[in-house]
Order: sequence, then structure tokens, then C-alpha cells
Amino acid sequence: MNRHAPYLHIRPLEPSEAGAAAALLGRGMADNPINIAVYGGEEAHRARTHERLMRVLLSGSPSMRVEVAEQNGLLVAVAVSTPPGRCQPRGADRIRLLGRAMTFGPRVATRLLSWSGAWAAQDIAEPHVHLGPVSVDRHLRGQGIGTVLMLRHVAGLDSVGVAGYLETDRPEAVAFYRRHGYAVIDRRQILGVPNWFLRRPPA
Ligand SMILES: CC(C)(COP(=O)(O)OP(=O)(O)OC[C@H]1O[C@@H](n2cnc3c(N)ncnc32)[C@H](O)[C@@H]1OP(=O)(O)O)[C@@H](O)C(=O)NCCC(=O)NCCS
Repeated sequence: MNRHAPYLHIRPLEPSEAGAAAALLGRGMADNPINIAVYGGEEAHRARTHERLMRVLLSGSPSMRVEVAEQNGLLVAVAVSTPPGRCQPRGADRIRLLGRAMTFGPRVATRLLSWSGAWAAQDIAEPHVHLGPVSVDRHLRGQGIGTVLMLRHVAGLDSVGVAGYLETDRPEAVAFYRRHGYAVIDRRQILGVPNWFLRRPPA
């Protein structure tokens, strides 16, 4: 138990939970401004489409670390991070993600490529642990669950003395990450949406 969100259990994702975690990320990010710009349409459609992409992401590279928060037997949050040198999907992972993007049609696929390309271009050269996607289930936000995930994440960074890095398209999330030692190093419009790029210096 922890004081920020009682009865919360943080642990690695079990392979059998990949579908539930992808669904959580899909619905959790359906109203993020960049997801609206990429997928368009209704919220339920955006959630389903992003879930399909997240399903491919979560079945990718074993170097990716996927942590989940469980409360009363239910997954309530997912946090994905990748170790230094591995943050951009490559090889078979990249091909599978591109293949899935193509099934969404040319307009969405082109926008997904613009988004991922713009984020990749901003990536810092310094070795870092790349955080994201991160999502807490909608109805449970603001209750400390994200804080528990972040405290654990930054403790991991500090234990090995490595920099942290992440991107976000939500202004309210910028304040949240700042509280955990991240600082905005750049800001860019992508598909008409402001995006913030944040770095956390090594301890
Ligand atoms: C950002 C996020 C992970 C924070 O998790 P959380 O469990 O809501 O955060 P906590 O309860 O520990 O902390 C709350 C703080 O988070 C920030 N926050 C960001 N988005 C928020 C949201 N939608 N609802 C509530 N708080 C939010 C606020 O700064 C809040 O600060 P306050 O307590 O001073 O009001 C979560 O809100 C979320 O999943 N958002 C949607 C997906 C997303 O944008 N992910 C991050 C960008 S990649």
C-alpha cells in the first residue's frame, strides 16, 4: 500500500493482460489533442483505433518495460518505458507498427507518420530512459495513481543515474511531470497541436 493511492499494486504487465492494457491506453488517450488530430471522428472510434495500434506496440520489443497499476483486481493505469538507445521502434517492430497504421487508411497513416516522425526528430542524443505512453483510466485521474507510477519511475532513473525524457500534448501533464523533476526543453506544433518535450537530468 502507499500513501498516494491506497490499495494500489504496481507490477509488470502479464502477457495475458496485453489486450486490457491496450484498451486502457486507447480509451485513455482518445481525447488527447494529438490523437484527435490524427484519428479524427468520434471518441469511441479514436479509442478503438488507438487501441489497435497499442496492441501492436505492447507485443513488440522485449526491451520495453510495461508497468501496470492494479486496484481491486482491475488494471487502472499503464506506463511504458524504453531503455537507453531503444526508444525508437526498429526492424520488425517498426514494420509491424507501419503495417497496422496502413490498415487505418492513407489519411490516418500519413498523420501517424508525421506525428511519430516529429517526435523521433526531437529525441535527445544523450542516453535516456524514454517514458510513454502513460495513462491512468479516466474516471480514476487526480487520485494519485499517476504520482505513484512516476515516483517509481524516477526512483529507477536515479538508481542508475540516467536521464529521463518524454513528450506530451497535454498542458496539464506538463505541470505533473515538472513536479517529478522534468523540465521542458522544447515545444513544437505537430499537426496544429502544441507538444512539449521534457528532459529530467541524471541524478
Ligand atoms: C497525466 C496522468 C498520467 C496523471 O495521472 P493522475 O493519476 O491523474 O495524476 P495524480 O492524481 O497522481 O496527480 C494529479 C496531477 O496530475 C495532473 N493531471 C494531468 N492530467 C490530469 C487529468 N486529466 N486529471 C487530473 N489530473 C491531471 C495535474 O497536474 C494534477 O495536479 P493537481 O493534483 O495539483 O491537480 C493522467 O491524468 C492521464 O492518464 N492523462 C491522460 C493521458 C495522458 O495525457 N498521459 C500523459 C501524456 S503522455
